Amino acid sequence: MTLGNTRTQAYGETWYWDNRYAHESGCFDWYQKYNSLAPLIHLYIPNNHHRILVVGCGNSAFSQGLADDGYGDVVNIDISSVVVQAMQRKYFDRPHLIYMQMDVRDMSAFQSSSFDAVVDKGTLDSLLCGNNSRQNATKMLEEVWRVLKDKGVYILITYGAPVYRLRLLRDSCSWTIKLHVIEKLTSGEDSQSPLWGLTNVVPLNDDGSSVEAVLGNNPDVHYIYVCIKDDYSKVAE
Ligand SMILES: C[S@@+](CC[C@H](N)C(=O)[O-])C[C@H]1O[C@@H](n2cnc3c(N)ncnc32)[C@H](O)[C@@H]1O
Repeated sequence: MTLGNTRTQAYGETWYWDNRYAHESGCFDWYQKYNSLAPLIHLYIPNNHHRILVVGCGNSAFSQGLADDGYGDVVNIDISSVVVQAMQRKYFDRPHLIYMQMDVRDMSAFQSSSFDAVVDKGTLDSLLCGNNSRQNATKMLEEVWRVLKDKGVYILITYGAPVYRLRLLRDSCSWTIKLHVIEKLTSGEDSQSPLWGLTNVVPLNDDGSSVEAVLGNNPDVHYIYVCIKDDYSKVAE
């Protein structure tokens, strides 16, 4: 199941996800599982008391992975009330795993600067499939930026190469962006000889073309943009 190869507007619609989750019991992780990404999570979220927001959590086991790994404050949101209710039932005995129905484009229920990290695996990609994609993506990124603390991190796991994501990220808000890559899962196994080490930053020039020079054309990877919030208003304080 991929978002990258299927151009469908339905991924941007609530009814699509409600309907899908009504028929999908159990859990499913898009792109990558927690264990594969854990070294990068440890690198950018070194303190397990940090408050983490997982946007568009779906029925992924990623947040359970975070909690099992010791992260004690994990808030999850999704636009689908169907999946949120299912996850609330599933984790009723895990008080550190909170699930709320919310649209990532309007997180006014959260105060500004209230999270240390936001994790997005496939959610910006979904919005980019739908109608008014650019406008929706910009709203989402502005909200993510708002709820992050200064120097907080937005970790975006996506199929989108830098030529398709860098400008959107840079135009939306003020970030310092670092790029990582991880090979796509083929047999459910981690690659023994990865193209590029997960925790090594991939050199990134202004238009992202440097990535091809390092990884070759169309590498079979997921891209991970680590966007660090630059709140210039804080500099003057
Ligand atoms: C591709 S799935 C990814 C699910 C999960 N993050 C994972 O890695 O398996 C995208 C998720 O984003 C949610 N979503 C779509 N639009 C949303 C919005 N505007 N606000 C919050 N969640 C949204 C969908 O309901 C769906 O659960």
